This record gives sequence, structure tokens and C-alpha cells, in this order.
Amino acid sequence: MSTQKSSFNHNQDVVHKPSKTFSSKARISSMAAYKKLYKQSIEQPEKFWAREAEELVWQKPWSKVLDWKAPNAKWFEGGKINVCENCVDRHAVGPRKNKAAIIWEGEPGDKRVITYGQLQKDVCRFANVLQKNGVKAKDRVLIYMPMVPEAAVAMLACARIGAVHNVVFGGFAAEAIVDRLQDSGASIIITADGGWRRGKVVALKPVVDEALARYDQVSRVIVLKRCGNEIAMDAARDAWWHDEVATVPSKHVAKGFDSEHPLFVLYTSGSTGKPKGILHTSGGYLTGTYSTCKYIFDMRDDDVYWCTADVGWITGHSYIVYGPLANGATQVMYEGAPNAPDFGRFWKMVEEYGVTIFYTAPTAIRAFIKAGDQFPNAYDLSSLRLLGSVGEPINPEAWNWYHQKIGGGRCPIVDTWWQTETGAILISPLPGATPCKPGTATLPFFGVDAVILDDAGKKCKAGQDGRLVIRKPWPSMIRSIYGDKERYKSTYWSDYPGFYTAGDGARRDKDGNFWIIGRLDDVLNVSGHRLGTAEIESALVSHPAVAEAAVIGRPDEMKGQAVAAFVTLKAGFEESEALCAELRNHVGKVIGAIAKPDDLYFAPGLPKTRSGKIMRRLLKELVCTGKVTGNVTTLEDPSIIENLQRKIAPHPAP
Ligand code: WTA
Repeated sequence: MSTQKSSFNHNQDVVHKPSKTFSSKARISSMAAYKKLYKQSIEQPEKFWAREAEELVWQKPWSKVLDWKAPNAKWFEGGKINVCENCVDRHAVGPRKNKAAIIWEGEPGDKRVITYGQLQKDVCRFANVLQKNGVKAKDRVLIYMPMVPEAAVAMLACARIGAVHNVVFGGFAAEAIVDRLQDSGASIIITADGGWRRGKVVALKPVVDEALARYDQVSRVIVLKRCGNEIAMDAARDAWWHDEVATVPSKHVAKGFDSEHPLFVLYTSGSTGKPKGILHTSGGYLTGTYSTCKYIFDMRDDDVYWCTADVGWITGHSYIVYGPLANGATQVMYEGAPNAPDFGRFWKMVEEYGVTIFYTAPTAIRAFIKAGDQFPNAYDLSSLRLLGSVGEPINPEAWNWYHQKIGGGRCPIVDTWWQTETGAILISPLPGATPCKPGTATLPFFGVDAVILDDAGKKCKAGQDGRLVIRKPWPSMIRSIYGDKERYKSTYWSDYPGFYTAGDGARRDKDGNFWIIGRLDDVLNVSGHRLGTAEIESALVSHPAVAEAAVIGRPDEMKGQAVAAFVTLKAGFEESEALCAELRNHVGKVIGAIAKPDDLYFAPGLPKTRSGKIMRRLLKELVCTGKVTGNVTTLEDPSIIENLQRKIAPHPAP
């Protein structure tokens, strides 16, 4: 790793301390308290995690907190737990029985409130349905649903009977379903006729039918009627959700499973074309998601929490289903798009339900900035007390807008760093304690031994770029790539034997804060200087004309790599040669001449996955070859690529 100094943290001296009002009520209310508990948790991680796990209901206590033979961890060995019992039953039998668990809103405006008491009945019924259909512990169940409460019910019912769910994001095509069925060997699918998105029905069952025309090992498809769109039902294979639940009792005994019993497999992209099935297990995963929700969102019984992710992603698993429900929280769940019918939808819902904790992604925030302040300005957002961000580094401009416009300058922002593989948040501010600087995820959570190492395995100095590494196991960590222990070991544990490498580049500042530069494959090397694509993007977005930017490296004879930037302008700004030059110079001013984009393209939209991640890989292919040959079915809007293709002359490798 070279030690290129960079000014990504160009406003790193702006520090936002939590207010006294916030801190005085928080679980961890000062840096001194954080440091003390962090030190203990690193010296004796097993003691810390055991104390957290003790707040869950165990049907049989564990005999050993951790059995660690790198890279294989067994947490809470000997213990028996039912994850669903912890998320549902323990609340349904106590004072939270009539408390709202899920306040759901469909995109057309239909509403439902599901109490913990009701959720227990729904989950028990569906657990009985699964068992009636022959699903046993460890069987894989593929879930392909819109954002409706039944998606959570299906996941929890699987957990209840020890079946392993594999949720496939509702925006994926048939090919993704076939790949996952083949890899996981699922024999049953839970789906819906369709879901609402931007005023239209997105059909789901027909996609399942298309997948099953190519894969014949599925014996049962259970279909929720959500939109009433016309679909085909195969009488021998398909059954309606409402018919199935009508014939079973609403009581079901939640049996305990081994702590290391598999809970779910969730597929995520790796460096190869084949998605990896990330395997998570029961006791440790629940401990991690429970504990991070409790401390990082500082969840209370009177909070109204809203995470805008989809259950098809890890954020939906950990911070819609398992973490918040294990905490007995009340949460808002929303089916549709943030701009349906306009960009005021989220803020209207925040006002209506009195949302207190709001967790979203930087890409959404930038879309809101582009749409204009009139939308948040039209609603009363004073119920909010805490904001969160996840998924990519949040550029300081988005941070500041989020802080001012949405949080009214009073809400701390927790910038949470984690991954599908980590299961739970590993680096984040604690809202009542950590001074925040826009753009850094700040400090490691309790028990998380995060460091930055150079290529030789030496700890990097402050300001020096390196690889983000976790040196100790943590309860919610990935246990394997499904069916491929070798790939698990070689992907995550072989850069520095015995340590987990996250695949992210990062650096720490003089105060110890972690600045995530981005995926290591997004790090450019321009004339021997290391530059994060995120740094250049952040610089571009700090210009008043820019709504969003994506930066990639392309081969260059002189510099090794040259910088190509794609820029989406805010409404009211015109594309021009002059603006192009101004933006290049602006990057030069913010970071240094080395980072000035060699090519700068104006793009009315950027190619994104449906979870909102910019697909820089496609932009790179486009810039290098002039076209995109790969699969674009996961794109939110494939026409964006066609439009860009017309603008770009290829830059082949020298
Ligand atoms: C990136 C999403 C900077 C990072 C939970 C990571 C972030 C990848 C942040 C995992 C953050 C996530 N700051 N980067 N707060 N959160 N990332 O598996 O590159 O979809 O490796 O999990 O997202 O993405 P995944």
C-alpha cells in the first residue's frame, strides 16, 4: 500500500458533538463511557458478548461462549435458542402484546398495524403451513416477495421451525432465482402475485414461473394475493397463502435449535460473476443484531423506527426483521418507491407516524437533494431524534443536507459500516457519545477489533491508506459461503491468516476515526498515487451543480490509470464545456491536480442496482470498450447504459 495523502476528509475538522439533551438519555452517554466499555470488550470479548446474549431467551444455556479455530467460529456452543421466539413470542406474552410491531403502508396508501400479539398468530399459522407442506429443519425456503408484512412473517416462520430462508430481492429476474435455487437446493418458494412500485404492479409470480420452467426441483409455491394481477396457478404445485393459513391453528410451539443452527443464506456479488451465498447462523447473529440495534439506534419502547431498506438485502434482514423485533421495537415498513407519488412520500410518512429513528442510504439522500428542498420543507419532521446511513461512504454534502434538512440540525447521524458478511454493524458512532465528522463511520462497535493494515500486514499510521481488517471473531459473522468452505477461507481469511479482510480500503485520522475509501477494487492508482473513487466523487458532489457522480479508472499509457467521471447535474444547471472545465478544476481544488478527471461525461442518470449501488463495473466497461456486454438485468433502469453508450469513445488498454 502506498501512503498517498489525500484530502477526502476535506472538512474533517468539522465536528458535530451529540447534544446534551440527547446524551443525557442515551445508553452510552459519553466518550469516556464508550472507551471504558470498548476496552473491556476487546480485552474480554467473550464476557461482553455473553452479557449481551443473556438478554435473549435461551431454551438451554450455552456451555462455551466461543470456540474459535480460524476461520471457523462457534458462538454460544451447547446453547439452544429459537430466534423467532425472541423476536415475537417473548413480546407477545408480556406488556408489549398490544404494542405495534409493524406499521405498514402500501404504495397505493393502504395501511395495516400489526401488534406483537397479532404477529405471533400470523407467524405461528405460517410455521404450521410450512410444516404441513413438509418443510423440515435445515430445508431451504426461497422467499421472493414485495415489501409487505408477510415477507417478515415468512422469514420468521422459517426461523421458528429451523428452516433456512433465502430471500431473493423482488427486483431480480428469473435468472437470479434459478441460480439461487440451484446453489441452495430450495424445494419451496414463497412469493406474491405482485407488488406496487411507482404506481404500477410489478408482477412476481410470473417471474417464479419463468424460473421454474428451467428448474424442476420445487414442489410447492405459496402465493400471497397482494395486487390481484392475473397470474397462472399450477393446481398441483401452487397454493394461495390465504387458503393455506385458513386451515391451520394459530398456535405453534417454538422449539429450541442449536446456537449454530443455520438461519439464512443471502446471496451477494463477489469479485467473480457467481454470487456467493452468505451463511448466517442463529444465536450469534441474533446477539449481534440485537445488541447493535440497542446501542447504535439506542432503541426505546416509545421509538418509532423506520429503515427504508428492502428485506431482500442484508439491511432488511438485520435492521427490519431480526434486530428491531428482538428489541421489541415499533417500526414502519413501506412497500413502494420514495418518489411515489412524489419525493415527499417519506417525509409525509415520517410526519404521519411520528417516526423518531430513520435509517436510509446515501444514494437516497442524494436523490432527495436533487429533487429539491420543497419536499421535506412541506412536512413536520420534528419527531425525528436520530438518523442513520448505510451502504456506501456518505459524502459530506449529503451528510450536511441530511443533518440540516431532515434532522433539523438536532439529530445525530450514525454512519454505519458493515457488510452482508458481517451480519451486523461493526463501525459506527454511538449517538449519545461519539463526536461525528461528516463522511466517517467513526469508531468500532464493542468487541470489534478493527485495524488498518498495509500489504505487509503492518498497522498503518494515521492518514495512511490500507486494508480494513477485523482481527477477532464476532458473533454475527459469516460462517461460510454456502456449500463452499474453501472459497470462504480463501475469500475472507487468507490475506492475513486468521484475520477477516473486508475488501474495503480505509484510513484512520488522528482521532482514530475510520474513513472508508471504498471497495479495494474501486481504488485507483494514478501515476502511482492512490485515489479512492469515493474521494473524487465526494469532491465532485461538493460542487453546487452536481447531484451525483461516479468515478472509475481506465487504462492510460502515461499514468497507469486515468480518471473518468460521470456526473449528474442538479435541476437548473445546463451541461456545457465551461461547466465541464469548472468541475475538473473543482476536483483539482478539493483534492489536488492528480485527481482531476481526465474525462468527464454528463449523465442524466447513473446505472444502479435496484438497491441503489452505482455499478461502476459497467461504466468501466463502457469507457474501456465503448459498450456493455455483461448482464444488465439487475439494473434499475437499463436505458441509462444505452444513452451513455452514444456519448463515449472507447479507451482501450495501451
Ligand atoms: C460499503 C451493506 C462506507 C462497503 C450493509 C462494504 C459502506 C459494502 C458503508 C457492503 C458505510 C456499507 N460507509 N461504505 N457506512 N456501509 N458500505 O454487503 O464497501 O451490501 O464493503 O452490505 O458496502 O455492502 P453490503
